[in-house]
Order: sequence, then structure tokens, then C-alpha cells
Amino acid sequence: MTWQHICTGSRLFLILLVVSSVGVMETKAKTGPVHGKVVVCYISTWAVYRPGHGAYSIDNFDPSLCTHVVYAFAGLDPELSAIKSLDPWQDLKEDYGKGGYERLTGLKRTHPHLKVSLAIGGWNEGSKNYSRMVADPMARGKFVKQVTSFIRRYNFDGLDLDWEYPTQRDGNPADRENFVLLCKELREQFQPHNLLLTSAIGAAKNVIDQAYDVRQISRYLDFLHIMCYDYHGSWDRKVGYNSPLTAPQGDALSVQYTIDYLLKLGAPAEKIVMGVPFYGRTFKTPYDGNIGDDTDGTAFQGPYTREDGFLGYNEICQILKNKTSGWTTMWDPETSQVVARSEKDVFNGLVQVVTFDNSRSIANKVKFAMDRNLAGIMVWSIDTDDFLGECEIEEDVYEDFRHLKHSGLRLPTRLHNNYPLLRTINEAMPLAIEEIKNKHHHHHDEDHDMHGHGDHGHRNYDDDDDSVEDNEIPHGSVEDRKGESNSALRKLQNPFFVAVVWCLLSLVF
Ligand SMILES: *[C@@H]1O[C@H](CO)[C@@H](O)[C@H](O)[C@H]1NC(C)=O
Ligand SMILES: *[C@@H]1O[C@H](CO)[C@@H](O)[C@H](O)[C@H]1NC(C)=O
Repeated sequence: MTWQHICTGSRLFLILLVVSSVGVMETKAKTGPVHGKVVVCYISTWAVYRPGHGAYSIDNFDPSLCTHVVYAFAGLDPELSAIKSLDPWQDLKEDYGKGGYERLTGLKRTHPHLKVSLAIGGWNEGSKNYSRMVADPMARGKFVKQVTSFIRRYNFDGLDLDWEYPTQRDGNPADRENFVLLCKELREQFQPHNLLLTSAIGAAKNVIDQAYDVRQISRYLDFLHIMCYDYHGSWDRKVGYNSPLTAPQGDALSVQYTIDYLLKLGAPAEKIVMGVPFYGRTFKTPYDGNIGDDTDGTAFQGPYTREDGFLGYNEICQILKNKTSGWTTMWDPETSQVVARSEKDVFNGLVQVVTFDNSRSIANKVKFAMDRNLAGIMVWSIDTDDFLGECEIEEDVYEDFRHLKHSGLRLPTRLHNNYPLLRTINEAMPLAIEEIKNKHHHHHDEDHDMHGHGDHGHRNYDDDDDSVEDNEIPHGSVEDRKGESNSALRKLQNPFFVAVVWCLLSLVF
């Protein structure tokens, strides 16, 4: 049988196939972000219990703004070595439950681009039960099998490990090695089903050093979701930045330090997904509310999230849009952080402070991530974005994209007011790539006169710094497994594709 035979016999079939596959490709392109980078959106699903306009349900989720969404959190049943729902009424359908798992994974029907994962762990789950489970090969084996069937049952595309953290918080030194084994065994079990395996990764240097064999876990994980936040908070007993992009030399608590350290330890850039916070850290101080001011460790909470020391961006922007609230803000160009503070309370003499990320912070962090060629951006968590669009749109988002401004490119206009931070991420990705390209051109033209800019003792991530090109990272296997790179070339090597083209040509001539 020759191609001619196959072709004549199945010409109509092939045409239908080509037409329908083009249709599928178009649908895929239309339902999600088109920038080709990863946008991982965590939903803290207990946000459904927040009062008033703070309540966030799966109906509020906009799947077109994320490539991946993570349902947080499921828990561990240490007796059964099994993953379990922590809120069966919200998560499951049994006993008239609300079926959250299947409502989220069901969004793939209308949004086929979307990958939906289930996260196990989180801060409140602690570390001890995970430490025990991974130390026992039998328990580990049982868990790996059970979790695979569990996530498949609800049509999830993958599992996200949120053990905070191996070796820490009543963990065991052996966790570091056992966590590698857990990843390896999960990978082996997931492979035949093409499931995604990812993990949240702590950002502090001491946690990275103790908890993770970075090179080994990178072999088995599809993506590392780096939790680049909580660098400072009320626990420090002084005012500090929640998520500073840079820090002075010798200070390891910054986004840049974390990312560059992981790259140095052998995490492949194309597997690193850099986390950004959609929340701030709060403080109360008898001083003026400057960075470094002492506090007695107390903080304050917001009306929606109701957690001491924590304010969602949606809560912060509500305060700031109230022009009679007496709050003022200050932008810090070194860290790309905002400090907002209240007037001094006349009764207790305390100033309330919150340090947080606004749209400009997020745009600058996207630029840094693109500069390092990372896979993309992760968000904790989209339920504290201004998802209802009740606040003012910030005007200075691309203030620090200097080369873009000079190129005269028109910045996009927003069609929607909701999800300002999440929209900034998607919007900033292509802009950042363009900005970086322009910077290099600019650099070749004008060369030296821009060096040294912004150097105030900070080990600066500076967009005029050529050292960013020194990050040559060994390439992993993500692209290979997903078959996304060189797709045109691959098609030419595919005999079926060649046959289809040949048939179409023979039809035309
Ligand atoms: C560990 O598991 C036990 C038994 O199920 C449970 O009582 C305990 O709360 C778990 N630990 C944490 C921190 O959740
Ligand atoms: C704005 O802030 C002032 C002062 O704190 C307060 O009295 C007022 O109720 C706030 N307005 C709104 C709309 O929240």
C-alpha cells in the first residue's frame, strides 16, 4: 500500500481531521494566555467563607487569566497514608456537597488550555505527619498509588506538593532524602497517565539548604513553585518588606537572592515558577512606621481575611481608595515594594503599617523573571486580587520599563477593571521581553554611561546589568516531554503530517 492508496481512500477523512484539528488549536489559543509563559494561580478555597465582598468561590475564577490553577489544600491521612479532603462539603459531591474539585476541573471543558492541580499540605498541616509517611517505604508506596487514583478520580491534571517544609517544624533531617524518593516514586506512577508533578518551595536560604536536594527534586518535578514572600512580617518585631525584589549585600532575604541561589544550585530556569504575593504583611509601631521601626510583635487584620499580620491586596486597595482614611503610601524603588501607613492613633499612639506588592511591583518582578528566563509566575493567591474590580486602576504600572517608554510603543488599554494584579502579570510578560530586548539594543548603542545606576549599597537587580546573561542553565526535559518546542520541525518529521500535506496538495492540483 502506498500513500496514494491511503490518500485516495481517506481523503475526506483527512480533510475533516485537518479542519477539526485546526479548530481545536484555535480554541486552545483563544481560551488562555497567549504569551507562552506559565501563570500558576493558587486558589485558597477557604476564601469562600470570607464575609461580604471578600467571599471568593470558584464561580469568581476567570480561567482565561491562568495557564495552571491549583486547588489549595487537601490534607494527609497519616493512618491510611492517603490524601484526603479537608473540607468534604466544599470539595466533594457526596451528601449534597458543593463539589469544588469537579467544578474546578470541569472548567477544562470550556477552557481546554487550563491545567488543574490539587495541592496537598499548606502551613496548617504542619510537617510531622509528612515526615513520618515519607520515612516508611511501605507508607510512601501506598500514598503514591492512592494519590494517583484520587487525582484521576476528580479529573485533576496533577498534584502540587505543599509540605512546609521537609526537615523543618518537627520534621527530620532524613526528610531531605526521603522527599527526593517521594518525588521520584510519584513521577514513576504519574508518567503513564501524563500527570503533572509540582511542588511549592520555601524561599529562605536556610530552608532551601536544609529541606531540598534541589538538583535531585528538579529531575522529577515539572515545575518548582517558589514561595517568594513572607521574607519579613510581624514575627520579626520590626517593620519589614513582605517580598523585596532585592536586598542590600549580605542579606539573603530577597526574591532575587532566592531565585539566583536556586539557579546556582542547579534548578533549571525553565522549571522555576517565581511566586508573587497578592497580599501584604502588617505591623503596628509607636514610631513613624518606617522600615526597621521596632514593634512589640503585634499587628492587625483585615475585614475579609481576618488573620493577624496579613492583608489581602483587595483589602489594602479598599483602604487606599478612601481619601479620608488618612493613609499614605511610599514607593521603594530598591525593593519594588509599597509601604502604606495610617496616621498615629490618638488613643494608643500606634501607627499601622502594611508592606505589599502593587501592580508596579508585580510588573517589575515579571521583568526580573523574564530576565532570568524563568518558566513563569505563580500567584498566592488570586482570591485576594481585586477580583471584583472595586478599586482604582493604578496608572504607573510600567514606570520602570524605561526602554519601552522610549521606544514609543503604546501600552495596552484595559477592558476590565477586575483582577488588576493578575492582568498585570499576563500583560507584563510580552512587554518585559520587549523591554529586555530594547535594553540590549540600547546598551550596544550607548554603552557605559548607564552603569552604576541605582547603586545605594544594594546588590541590585538592575535592568542595565549585563550579568543577567551569565545565567547559563543546563536544560531539562520539560520541553521534550511536552513536545512544545520546535513543533514545526517535528511536524515535518512526522509521516502522518507529511501524508496529510501530500493529500491536500494532490487534491488541489
Ligand atoms: C497529624 O495526624 C494526626 C492524626 O490524623 C492529626 O490528629 C494531627 O492533627 C495531624 N497533624 C497536623 C499538624 O495536622
Ligand atoms: C474612610 O475612612 C474614614 C476614616 O477612617 C472612615 O470614617 C470612613 O467610614 C471611610 N469610608 C469608607 C467608605 O469606608
